[in-house]
Amino acid sequence: MRTETDLRSPRHLWYKDAIVYCLDVESFQDGNGDGIGDFHGLLQRLDYLDGLGINTLWLLPFFPTPNRDNGYDVTDYYGVDPRLGTAGDFVEFLTAARERGLRVIIDLPVNHTSDQHPWFQEARRDEASRYHDYFVWSDTRPEDAEEGVVFPGVQEEVWTYDRTAKKYFFHRFYKHQPDLNIANPAVRAEIMRIMGYWLELGVSGFRLDAAPFLIELKGIDGADGQDPYEYLQEFRAFLSWRRGDAILLAEANVAPERVDEYFGPRPKMHMLFNFLVNQHLFLALARKDRTPLVKSLHMTPAIPGDCQWAHFLRNHDELDLGRLTEVQRTAIFQAFAPNENMRLYDRGIRRRLAPMLEGDVDRLRMAHSLLFTLPGTAILRYGDEIGMGDDLSLDERNAVRTAMQWSDAPNGGFSDAPPDSLQRPAIDSGPYSYEEVNVEAQTRDADSLLAWMERAIRARKENPEIGRGDLEILETNSPSVLAHACILDGRAVVAIHNLAEEEVTCRVDLSGMQGEELVNQLEVADRRAFEAELEVELPAYGFLWYRVH
Ligand code: NOJ
Ligand code: CA
Repeated sequence: MRTETDLRSPRHLWYKDAIVYCLDVESFQDGNGDGIGDFHGLLQRLDYLDGLGINTLWLLPFFPTPNRDNGYDVTDYYGVDPRLGTAGDFVEFLTAARERGLRVIIDLPVNHTSDQHPWFQEARRDEASRYHDYFVWSDTRPEDAEEGVVFPGVQEEVWTYDRTAKKYFFHRFYKHQPDLNIANPAVRAEIMRIMGYWLELGVSGFRLDAAPFLIELKGIDGADGQDPYEYLQEFRAFLSWRRGDAILLAEANVAPERVDEYFGPRPKMHMLFNFLVNQHLFLALARKDRTPLVKSLHMTPAIPGDCQWAHFLRNHDELDLGRLTEVQRTAIFQAFAPNENMRLYDRGIRRRLAPMLEGDVDRLRMAHSLLFTLPGTAILRYGDEIGMGDDLSLDERNAVRTAMQWSDAPNGGFSDAPPDSLQRPAIDSGPYSYEEVNVEAQTRDADSLLAWMERAIRARKENPEIGRGDLEILETNSPSVLAHACILDGRAVVAIHNLAEEEVTCRVDLSGMQGEELVNQLEVADRRAFEAELEVELPAYGFLWYRVH
């Protein structure tokens, strides 16, 4: 409910009210029957996305790529992977999205290129080339070459010898991904040129991939004394001059004390993923105890008024639990990843949400209800709206990147190609197969997860206090119950979640608020008188959203 029309208030900050849906074009819908998702297919599914109620799409990298890191290894930042379509197809998709009022943000993986990128090819061949200094080199093998690998167990080192260059090059990630030299102004100019190009085509911003590594100066000669956060400011200034309403959403899994550097003091990122809350949310789910989640919400620093937290449950990577203690991580592993092959990189889980929560629809709803009521912007991952599963027979994180399940038709309606020629296989057996879990069936079922998701998204949009207000944790007398309020301009939305499967009757302290009536935002018939000490009954994994009138 909006009451203000004051142009001085930051009402225009659209990303604060966004419901973001993240997808990989390659695995969403194949439009030409070659087994690979493409822009033509995605365009056909825009009505579905519009109907779901989301208003922003985040596309994973779709640039030309050898595809050894799900497209995060780019060979041309100005192109479209020919397997996914043409530049023309991209523009058609973008236009169709805009016609439906959907904004599009795209991944910007510029910490590194693919080693097949012409810049690197030129750089390794010719030390005198202007591209040589686009990358980070060392004549000798640095002593700490094995320290700081991001994919332990798969990646061995961060410096690899290149026979053509006869030097070692730095790569924070896989060895086919040489890091760009961010201290080189020419590299930063390239990054801005890339942003300028896609902004001109009409995107609403970028997910800045691996932001802390992008601005890392490790191994770069002559970078001493530079403030790498200034680079973020430079990018932001450029972005905002080119398109005032475009945003930067940084993938920055950093400690709370580093967060300030990403948001201010001069404008930098608009949004950061809240990895801290994500990890503690899973701990709270595993322990069925609100304490860790409350702790992480308290640890989350206050941010400037035009900045925003992005919340999520799962994403396209492993569920990274690296910010937790060994004991905490073990508790989550035991609850959600009991087998070794469900875990990854000594710190994470390579499963989808639904199998982690054993397909329990009440619990899945509760987890998403939490996502939609945490103060910030919610990001949904494709397929989670219907409770898709994973395929642990696939390598590393590919387990959670299977084809979208549209119907019980062959390949789940993802593609007409023979199943063995799919780029991203569809799950065709077990409780999460496309015969059991698909959009078509859930569309027709008013009690499905998908139908609930649509209602919850509508309710989330009708309660902008969640995305814009201040958080208050409310006292309750049950450790499994999290009660919190989001308050904006004297208006409040109260959310109460039971993290446990035992039903519970508990008291929630609303004495800090004033009101006459509580109106349930998800259930029609529920209106009750406001009470400073509210007593609620919650079933297994039950939840309530009340607007205080
Ligand atoms: C971060 C992305 O989220 C991940 O999928 C990728 O592997 C790394 N960047 C390296 O490219
Ligand atoms: Ca295709």
